[in-house]
Amino acid sequence: MANSNLTNAKRAKNDEFYTQYHDIEKEIGAYLEFNPDVFRGKTVLLPCDDPEWSNFTKFFAQNFERFGLKKLTSTSYAENSKIYKTDYQPSLLETNDPQYDKDKAIENGKIFSLMHDKSGDGKIDVDDLEWHYMEGDGDFKSDEVRKLRDEADIIITNPPFSLFRDFLSWVAEADKQFLIIGNINAITYKEVFPLIKENKVWLGATGNGSDMVFSVPKGTEIDEKDRQKAARLGYVGDYTRLGNSCWFTNLDHGRRHQPLPLMSTADIIKFGTQKPFETYDNYDAIEVSFVKYIPSDFDGVMGVPISFLDKYSPEQFEIIGATESEGKGFSNGLWDEISSVSQALVKKERVYKRIFIKHKKEKQYENNLKN
Ligand SMILES: C[S@@+](CC[C@H](N)C(=O)[O-])C[C@H]1O[C@@H](n2cnc3c(N)ncnc32)[C@H](O)[C@@H]1O
Repeated sequence: MANSNLTNAKRAKNDEFYTQYHDIEKEIGAYLEFNPDVFRGKTVLLPCDDPEWSNFTKFFAQNFERFGLKKLTSTSYAENSKIYKTDYQPSLLETNDPQYDKDKAIENGKIFSLMHDKSGDGKIDVDDLEWHYMEGDGDFKSDEVRKLRDEADIIITNPPFSLFRDFLSWVAEADKQFLIIGNINAITYKEVFPLIKENKVWLGATGNGSDMVFSVPKGTEIDEKDRQKAARLGYVGDYTRLGNSCWFTNLDHGRRHQPLPLMSTADIIKFGTQKPFETYDNYDAIEVSFVKYIPSDFDGVMGVPISFLDKYSPEQFEIIGATESEGKGFSNGLWDEISSVSQALVKKERVYKRIFIKHKKEKQYENNLKN
């Protein structure tokens, strides 16, 4: 197989990763802890899901009353439109339903909705989900799903990884609240970084920096290393782990308002690095290779690993730019016109992706002087 075909096959496969109930529960718990009414009276849309077995649908349907939801809508993508083919069989729930249509079962998307106690058992839960075939294939970019997006208050999903940029732009353009899973490396995308810099998007509260486990279609080839990692976390069988996955959101949570405890420059040198901070050859900032060594008393610009975002508090720091970013505007004078790449160098050696930050207090000080 040619290289590009291999890459495409891998990408297609990467679209079929299914989120674990526990990961959803843990993350949602953080928003509820910060604001117990975060979902009250809201319409939640779960696109790019397969409502019959998606843990997102199960979780929100089961907690419909506790969260005080107004409406839950969940949509799936037609089997025939998926790039990665599996030996798909419609579920009994679908085939036993009078509206079952064998062509629509593979050509059309499905929509599940939950609003009231259909079963009459006195509670609203997963047994009250109603479904029908969609007009189209459930593509999130279709007018049909766009309309659902526009009606929703909050959009939550693990979108196909190969379409992450498109998906984030699709949510951001609608100006909705959202919570989606992606890869931490997406932060330097030109569609993502400006939103992070302006505090319009941030990382979620859990899962960051640790390995999130996903189930995959039966028989999917799994890297042995990843299979073993998943198994060590208690997931045996068709499971894998993705080390760089994280949640992206614009829903507020408590972690991002906790300042990162820091040491002074002198203490870091004395008890940690044993040497002064390096500066970049091509940018006026210090290189901070570990987040734990961000000095508390340095007023200039600091280059830190992207894992910093996991600890970022907008009250404590200002984000100024990023290396390896796709946009000239975010690279702070490091932009190479020929390669269109922004690289930070220390002693002529390329440093891995960095985010440039500054302590907020200096800005506050300047502001105070102006007032
Ligand atoms: C990463 S999986 C996650 C599924 C589910 N949200 C979960 O977390 O378990 C993304 C799903 O989106 C589907 N998908 C791919 N392209 C899509 C599109 N253009 N519109 C909607 N869904 C799509 C994939 O087939 C896949 O089932």
